[in-house]
Amino acid sequence: MDKIYGNAYPEMKRILRNLTDEITVIRADMTEEIGMDPIEHIRARIKSDESMREKCRRKGFPETQESATKLIRDAIGIRIVCAFLDDVYTIRERLLELPDVELIEEKDYIRHVKPNGYRSFHMILLVSGVYYVEIQLRTISQDTWAALEHHMKYKKEISGNTELIVRELKRCADELASTDESMQTLRDMINQSSRSEQLPSGSDQEEKD
Ligand code: GTP
Ligand code: MG
Repeated sequence: MDKIYGNAYPEMKRILRNLTDEITVIRADMTEEIGMDPIEHIRARIKSDESMREKCRRKGFPETQESATKLIRDAIGIRIVCAFLDDVYTIRERLLELPDVELIEEKDYIRHVKPNGYRSFHMILLVSGVYYVEIQLRTISQDTWAALEHHMKYKKEISGNTELIVRELKRCADELASTDESMQTLRDMINQSSRSEQLPSGSDQEEKD
């Protein structure tokens, strides 16, 4: 079953559950602050024994608990899918404030888009000083694109038209990204106008309370 993780497996499940609970708290706090739920959905998983073994082989590591939990750092993974771009960065900041969490590495594929068009914010955290967790933060559009691109990668029968497909996928990624930016701007505008409506004329926000 999950033999590659050996006796680490129960602790890994506990780490995943705790972190997911902490994200639920961040989510509730932010919902109160911004007046809407910043998260569309969350997916938490421990990489299956089979895929972990496949990854060990691919990387040339022995199929051991040590490889699975120390050399490979995404045995425990959480994907947080947000409606808006800003929320990706706010959640990132909140994660860094958690006790017992140390930032090991970050990759901002939103600001530094991969050549194929992939966008996402990746973090490797060390939790409780022992276990690595990979966090992927992305918008709904970015998630939709990644799902399609992932699906295509495994469709080995695609051989003709590959260049066109790659180019079109990249174009879709860029169009989705520009929509994400417009949606963010729209939300900012809506927030701005609802804030000024709440204020009695002649007073500004600072004086209010
Ligand atoms: P690994 O050796 O696979 O862990 O890659 P890495 O250590 O270079 O990490 P990276 O942060 O680039 O990617 C880790 C994960 O992000 C992958 O396992 C995928 O889930 C996702 N990912 C990265 N690049 C792509 C991509 O081009 N397309 C899709 N669909 N997912 C990607
Ligand atoms: Mg990785």
